[in-house]
Amino acid sequence: MENFTLFNPTRIHFGRGQVAAIGSEIPADSRVLLLAGGGSIRKNGVYDQVLKALGGRTRFEFFGVEANPDFDTLMKAVEVVRRERIDWILAVGGGSVLDGAKFVAAAVDYAGDPWEILVTRAAKLTSALPVGAVLTLPGTGSEANGAAVISRRSIREKLAFISPLVFPKFSILDPETTFTLPERQISNGVADAFTHVIEQYLTYPANAAIQDRFAESVMLVLAHEGPKSVKHPTDYDSRANVVWATTWALQGVIGAGVPQDWASHAIGHELTALHGIDHARTLAVVVPSLLDVQRSSKREKLLQYGRRVWGIRTGSESDCVTAAIEKTRQFYESLGLRTHLSDYDVKPDVGAEIAARFRARGVLKIGERGDITPEVVERILRQAA
Ligand code: NZQ
Ligand code: ZN
Repeated sequence: MENFTLFNPTRIHFGRGQVAAIGSEIPADSRVLLLAGGGSIRKNGVYDQVLKALGGRTRFEFFGVEANPDFDTLMKAVEVVRRERIDWILAVGGGSVLDGAKFVAAAVDYAGDPWEILVTRAAKLTSALPVGAVLTLPGTGSEANGAAVISRRSIREKLAFISPLVFPKFSILDPETTFTLPERQISNGVADAFTHVIEQYLTYPANAAIQDRFAESVMLVLAHEGPKSVKHPTDYDSRANVVWATTWALQGVIGAGVPQDWASHAIGHELTALHGIDHARTLAVVVPSLLDVQRSSKREKLLQYGRRVWGIRTGSESDCVTAAIEKTRQFYESLGLRTHLSDYDVKPDVGAEIAARFRARGVLKIGERGDITPEVVERILRQAA
């Protein structure tokens, strides 16, 4: 096991009616900016619950954070925060709203052009406003981590930053607030979280038994409960297990002390930037192909994954690896996520374009061994045609 330091400061309030906990989390004399998306929270009653919990606090609202939150939109929220001397940001929505809130919190007092926060991955960040979250779409793990992914459509970029300063101070996870999710979004969430585990687990053995077994548990729960919850969106127990599994997938514990990959995410973000494909769907395209291209360097973990998660025990090692990758593809497809570029009308030569973007940015070696070069990225995408 590698050395690690682990700290997760987010207080989680889980379960029915927990939106009320906002009342004990945000100081009564705060000036709060409620940040939200396109309006789903007005239709499903979450907004009313939030207003009730906020009580008499001074409140401002900023709606319109889009899926794949946009820098230009968020900079308008930054202006509101500065103008109204806001001191708390309350994100109410999915991963995009939460990520947007983290960016706004970091940008407000940033000396310089806030886009630098993304370009330097928060290297010079020294402060951020406190963020609280009411999560209405499980999947990204943003509710309990220090990461945010921001798009800038005007220059066709999508970049991430990570900082301990932007962990939410608290997050409300009430599975009932997710009952109104369209099938496409809950499927996306399950697939995204499953892939977060893959990125931290399907690498090479590090003798990290706790991390491995926990990672496998999260995958097993998502594989079992995910499709059930897509089919029965108001089954509380099933949805509760999905919500908690997705948080576990990216709140730090399973990734501590182990090698991590994240190449599928890096490539997927480019596909979203260039073609607007949903985040989870880019992963469904990239992951099966990446696992196949990297099958020898990931062989031991692919075998362990196949055996422990999908029960693959017979056949040659090569057959077992192939079967494990095929099971992964089938899982995405079973959730309704198509796994080929052609399903999204994207030509395989997008690989050359993305490889060129990586080269221009100096991203020359990704993956747990640093052996995914721009050439390999091209091969992965050619194979995902
Ligand atoms: O905007 P509204 O009207 O709220 O509608 C949203 C949006 O259209 C809707 N929705 C959310 N909750 C709902 C609901 N509709 C009905 N009922 C509800 N309860 O769902 C749509 C998609 O929402 P979005 O927040 O974009 O989805 P998701 O949570 O999948 O977030 C995707 C973003 O997160 C980033 C992605 O790159 C992408 O930008 N990620 C963030 C990560 C992190 N911070 O750690 C890691 C991930 O790998 C990921 O990259
Ligand atoms: Zn993701």
